[in-house]
Amino acid sequence: MIKFSQVLFLLNAVWTLTRGDADVFCQLGQSCILPCSFQAGDEAVIHWIQQPELTKKQVHSFYHNKDQLDQQDARFKNRTSLFHDQISKGNASLRLTGVMLEDEGRYMCYSSILAGKEEFFVNLKVYAPVQDVNIQHLGNEIICSSDGIYPEPALFWTPDQTDQKIRLTQTEQKLYSIRSSVPSADSMDVTCTVSTPAGSRRATLESTVHENILGTETSISCSNLTPFTMYIWRFNHSEEMVRGTPQGPHSPTEKWQQHIVESSLEKLTLKQLQPNLTGIYTCEVWSDQETSVKSFFLHVTEGKVRSRSMKGLSRQKLIFLFFLSQIII
Ligand SMILES: *[C@@H]1O[C@H](CO)[C@@H](O)[C@H](O)[C@H]1NC(C)=O
Ligand SMILES: *[C@@H]1O[C@H](CO)[C@@H](O)[C@H](O)[C@H]1NC(C)=O
Ligand SMILES: *[C@@H]1O[C@H](CO)[C@@H](O)[C@H](O)[C@H]1NC(C)=O
Ligand SMILES: *[C@@H]1O[C@H](CO)[C@@H](O)[C@H](O)[C@H]1NC(C)=O
Repeated sequence: MIKFSQVLFLLNAVWTLTRGDADVFCQLGQSCILPCSFQAGDEAVIHWIQQPELTKKQVHSFYHNKDQLDQQDARFKNRTSLFHDQISKGNASLRLTGVMLEDEGRYMCYSSILAGKEEFFVNLKVYAPVQDVNIQHLGNEIICSSDGIYPEPALFWTPDQTDQKIRLTQTEQKLYSIRSSVPSADSMDVTCTVSTPAGSRRATLESTVHENILGTETSISCSNLTPFTMYIWRFNHSEEMVRGTPQGPHSPTEKWQQHIVESSLEKLTLKQLQPNLTGIYTCEVWSDQETSVKSFFLHVTEGKVRSRSMKGLSRQKLIFLFFLSQIII
């Protein structure tokens, strides 16, 4: 029986063309095309070989006008194909499905026709993009985290945080998780960005305080991130109240139906405020590129409002008066 390596050796040709490496980035789990073209001719032979140093693995072979997969490495079974209708035009590109991290590495595309042979190299690099960045207030820390990333991600805060703790871990599947915590300060707006060479996502945490009287109605509004793909209003960071898509809001969860008058991305209106509605309301909005998280602390009090928003109002009034007086002067 002729071994696969011997097949390569036996192929004697008139000229040999060797070209440099091309980098190809493939997303984990998706399909990907490894490009290769050759000078079209009769009796085309194509071998795709993965070359981890010494042990060459046969990825896909084609000769005698059909695929020859007897010697194909088990890892590539059912995952490779050539564009058969394009081979006569000199296209030896390989389609690889279900890309895995083990697929990373250097591949040789060997092709020959009667007149000569060609070697072309492709460096396959796998990436798992940052899908989701979570940001939340926990005790007196703000925590930002993201999972399932490859290659190693970087994380940074805006404004810059000098006192951050950062932890990078890797799962058995080699995917990275990153987590960073910073001390929280009053009414601090922070953005956390997680990035890899393949792209980045960020999440913003904004905090404000609302105080309201028992039995009244109140509305809180979320940032308007457009175009968005989904939003979720949550209570005390975990409990989902209601979510929506660009098509409109879904109905609130059973528990929250009795408290919600209306909900949308822009506005959440709560009725008949009672003490157990005191807590943190968070609005999370996703777009293709980023996640925005805005949280509100709602304090339901009995009697008169001694609220920061009122203080804010009176401050605004003062500033307004100040401007007026300036204009008058
Ligand atoms: C080969 O054909 C495929 C499918 O039509 C195409 O996507 C690819 O770009 C072609 N590659 C080359 C090198 O021509
Ligand atoms: C390849 O596909 C065939 C038919 O779809 C299936 O029976 C076989 O189990 C698959 N082999 C592997 C290794 O996935
Ligand atoms: C608040 O208390 C009422 C009963 O007084 C209860 O029906 C409701 O589920 C509670 N709401 C929350 C958010 O805990
Ligand atoms: C929600 O969180 C606030 C502040 O942390 C707490 O005072 C309140 O008891 C929590 N409410 C519920 C229903 O867990």
